[in-house]
Amino acid sequence: MGFLDRLFNKTTEGEIKMTKLNIGIILGSTRQGRVSPQVGEWVKGIADKRGDANYEIVDIADFNLPFLGEGTGTEPGLAAWNEKLASLDGFVFIVQEYNHSITGALKNALDSARDAWYNKAAGFVSYGSTGGARAVEHLRGILGELLVADVRVHPTLSLFTDFENGSVFKPAELHLDNVKAMLDQVNAWSGALKNLR
Ligand SMILES: Cc1cc2nc3c(=O)[nH]c(=O)nc-3n(C[C@H](O)[C@H](O)[C@H](O)COP(=O)(O)O)c2cc1C
Repeated sequence: MGFLDRLFNKTTEGEIKMTKLNIGIILGSTRQGRVSPQVGEWVKGIADKRGDANYEIVDIADFNLPFLGEGTGTEPGLAAWNEKLASLDGFVFIVQEYNHSITGALKNALDSARDAWYNKAAGFVSYGSTGGARAVEHLRGILGELLVADVRVHPTLSLFTDFENGSVFKPAELHLDNVKAMLDQVNAWSGALKNLR
């Protein structure tokens, strides 16, 4: 398939329309009482208004992934996780800081696929006492091994000022421009890398 064929879809009527990218907003935490769904929905709301890609929330908890190597390898959730990732062109990780790094659930989910990650792009929205920055720096290193290109703009949310009592998400207005700029970069790189795959 040529470059233009990959970039455009020809309809049966012969019209040419742009193919929208599929971007997964991956919730990195799975614990009871987690705040990641609130943050993910906020990012999706901002993203959907752009109309430039198909954005969807991807919740690791929905897949019941076995801890790597401890299952049979035939669990339906494992296949479903790989199929979901394969259907995506790029990712926005919702990252929370656990002991200065990412959650065990996210690391296990990253380890539970291989080729489905390759040659795609990712951005991050993180939170924690210092905005979750330390967790994202770790995640960037892991993604390098999975051939995922990580973009620069990284909105960091504070558990103290962007959440009430650390549990009700009330983001400050100032984060909006950063989220948009991050999405610009994820879309640009996801589109470019689609041509490589
Ligand atoms: C096991 C554990 C370790 C944590 N370690 C850190 C940490 O090192 N730095 C930090 O800023 N917050 C830390 N926190 C606070 C979390 O960032 C905060 O609880 C956040 O809401 C967790 O995301 P979640 O609600 O989506 O699970 C930790 C929380 C847990 C449960």
